[in-house]
Amino acid sequence: MNLPAHHPLVDGGTAASPLIRAYRGDRPETTPVWFMRQAGRSLPEYRALRVGMAMLDACLDPELSSEITLQPVRRHGVDAAIFFSDIVVPLRLAGVDVDIVPGRGPVLGAPIRTAQDVAALRALDPAALAPIAEGVARTVAELGSTPLIGFAGAPFTLAAYLVEGGPSKDHLRARTLMHADPAAWDALLGWAADVTGAFLRAQVLAGASAVQLFDSWVGSLSVVDYESRVAPFSAQAISHVKDLGIPVVHFGVGTGELLRSMHAIGADVMGVDDRIPLDEASRRLGSEVPLQGNINPALLAAPWPVLERHVLDVIERGRAASAHVLNLGHGVPPETDPDVLTRIVELAHA
Ligand code: CP3
Repeated sequence: MNLPAHHPLVDGGTAASPLIRAYRGDRPETTPVWFMRQAGRSLPEYRALRVGMAMLDACLDPELSSEITLQPVRRHGVDAAIFFSDIVVPLRLAGVDVDIVPGRGPVLGAPIRTAQDVAALRALDPAALAPIAEGVARTVAELGSTPLIGFAGAPFTLAAYLVEGGPSKDHLRARTLMHADPAAWDALLGWAADVTGAFLRAQVLAGASAVQLFDSWVGSLSVVDYESRVAPFSAQAISHVKDLGIPVVHFGVGTGELLRSMHAIGADVMGVDDRIPLDEASRRLGSEVPLQGNINPALLAAPWPVLERHVLDVIERGRAASAHVLNLGHGVPPETDPDVLTRIVELAHA
């Protein structure tokens, strides 16, 4: 480990937390739980803070990013905080004209579609990451022994936005570029890997005790395309934090066929979405790989007895793996009743 001496994993007690123990393959006394997108629109206290403030401006305000990160920890008693930011923040910091349009997602001023577009991308100046490091440092000072998870987008998912110019259903333009101009593709993914890797490293050095690499849209690829044209760049992104010895979680949506290949990029823990049961995911990955997941977000709006039965089934199937961190199969839908999330935490800890 090359972490600073004052890092929470070294001297702050997060190493003994249920989350980090589970990420290392252990079975703590209670099942650790956190929720993807736990910081955000399901919380009235988040909506109040965000009034009149653009999403990316909020991400770059250390006081605000820290406060928003802490809100769900206070409210739900989850076993981890996840840093409030976005996968496109490091792109913006590298000079890309990107904004987050409410109700839509990341939108670019001009999409990146040609070799010339890729060649014009600039490297990320490490000094630009100062607001991120400060937001993380403020957060971990408040969290004590509760770990903070840092995160970043994987190169393919970033490229899915960069090439398309905005959210898309099938990421067709990105998947075309991959084959139509392999050299431009490699240059684009290599650039994205280093930008997103620097974003990850800044969060860990400032105090994050684990990281999650989101390759949300990678489920649109075949195993062959994934392994040959994408996986090497995901590995390159992770290489930026490998020497720090923190657990690396890797997650994508619709990745039942890709789990083994995604784990092979150097992930320690696999996040599983709700399209495949955890016992089957564990059979595919080998029982030694810790799993995270995979409550069906659609059931958050179902009557409690239906949801409770489902959560207990997820926990039961999670026993197939050496270790399990309870989470959703994807992010918290904005219309979710926050009390339901609190109830799931109580159930997991009971
Ligand atoms: O609690 C957490 O999980 C931490 C915060 C977080 C955000 N984005 C905040 C956010 C995380 C981990 C992300 C990652 C992210 N961003 C991903 C990967 C995770 C996933 O969901 O698959 C992706 C694909 C994005 C891109 C993105 N940013 C989308 C699709 C959207 C939603 C657009 C919308 O309005 O529906 C965003 C915006 C965004 N990122 C919001 C939040 C809280 C909503 C913005 C708002 O409050 O106005």
